[in-house]
Amino acid sequence: LTHLLSTEGLPRDILTHILDTAQTFVPMAERDIKKVPLLRGKSVFNLFFENSTRTRTTFEIAAKRLSADVYNLNINVSSTAKGESLLDTISNLTAMQADVFVVRHEASGAPYLIARNVEPHIHVINAGDGRHAHPTQGLLDMYTIRHFKKDFSGLTVAIVGDILHSRVARSDIHALTTLGAAEVRAIGPLTLLPGGLEQMGVKVFTDMREGLRDVDVVMVLRLQNERMKGALLPSSQEYFKHYGLTQEKLAYAKPDAIVMHPGPMNRGVEIDSAVADGPQAVILNQVTFGIAVRMAVMSIVAGASQ
Ligand code: CP
Repeated sequence: LTHLLSTEGLPRDILTHILDTAQTFVPMAERDIKKVPLLRGKSVFNLFFENSTRTRTTFEIAAKRLSADVYNLNINVSSTAKGESLLDTISNLTAMQADVFVVRHEASGAPYLIARNVEPHIHVINAGDGRHAHPTQGLLDMYTIRHFKKDFSGLTVAIVGDILHSRVARSDIHALTTLGAAEVRAIGPLTLLPGGLEQMGVKVFTDMREGLRDVDVVMVLRLQNERMKGALLPSSQEYFKHYGLTQEKLAYAKPDAIVMHPGPMNRGVEIDSAVADGPQAVILNQVTFGIAVRMAVMSIVAGASQ
């Protein structure tokens, strides 16, 4: 694996290898062991052209725990604001001896453009591109599901909310189907469900209670208002009434169902605080596992044994 751009097309053995490798890094994510030298001497550049709390910070922590040198380009004060092109920025950072670019960009495909134009020894990791893909989020979600449910076969997973604009949903659907989840459901209003879900093997529901019936995993998504230019939007109260995950709606899932959310959450819009902070929520576990998964991905693409 030279780059990680998407979970789409990644075979099951590679997905499983990443999850197994992440498992070995969980003690480092939990600070029981401080550092390993797998990326010593390598330079990781975090290029976040869109805002981030979890992904940017956990990539930085992960790279430092692998002993890499980490550089966070502050896009707001970079020469991007003066009109420098993406590829010129990349060429200049390459001249600073970059080894890994971790890229988040509002344009779908931006990490692919970079990967096609970098020198062969450089690795590109997609940290979220437009509404296309967020592969490390997909992988940390798979890690979390495997941690709590042990095995994908037999699992019914419901993804709830704004699937149309969600790169997380796409990455999760590809990974879940490859890893053999028994059933993947998408639940949301028709205006927020993209075409082609059935062709991806997903069962579509517009009624929340029907879609949640007997599921093992509920993945709640944020309404991505920043990507909804001109869309016909329900009010927050209207959305919460029909699609907000409350304890009453969660009761339709299996009693031991886990509740996930990639963050950031809009409490009172897509999820009620009683659920977000309740006993079935594993939302903060996802964040911690994200460190281990990002350590795994960077060590696999850029470590000595690549
Ligand atoms: N899940 C996620 O991508 O969160 P951030 O936008 O905070 O990185």
